[in-house]
Amino acid sequence: MAKRILVLNGPNLNMLGLREPEIYGAETLDDIRQRMESRAGELGVSLDFRQSNSEGELVGWIQQAAGHVGGGAGAADAIIINAGAYTHTSVAVHDALRAAGLPVYEVHLSNIYRREPFRHHSYISAVAEGVLCGFGPNGYLFALEAAAGSGD
Ligand code: DQA
Repeated sequence: MAKRILVLNGPNLNMLGLREPEIYGAETLDDIRQRMESRAGELGVSLDFRQSNSEGELVGWIQQAAGHVGGGAGAADAIIINAGAYTHTSVAVHDALRAAGLPVYEVHLSNIYRREPFRHHSYISAVAEGVLCGFGPNGYLFALEAAAGSGD
């Protein structure tokens, strides 16, 4: 069976293209999804691409990915996550990812270490296999390469 990769996007990422383009660029989240779908096809993996502004919804999707809830619906083999601002605040997303026990790849469009000090700490990094930040939308594609090869 093709490897299933869950791509999670947190708050305000639905605004990409409109939101601070000097920081986040002109591509929309749907542009990124399309680029990832096309690369996933070449890599022979299946992609489930989602966005939510709600912390609880993200936690629920992570629990489903682990197969802990939802009767197998939404189950995944790896998670790529740009948790947006929840990166810097959410113990709940950290705990859900830790409990899921799946390989996690953390992505940020911007280089969070070159920005305000409150963005320098990530609750996701401690549970991630790898972190990609500052590569713009390409970071998602680099993470996809890594996730597609995870466990091989
Ligand atoms: C972001 C960086 C976060 O600090 C910010 O809150 C975001 C986007 C990024 O992709 O660069 O919403 O995760």
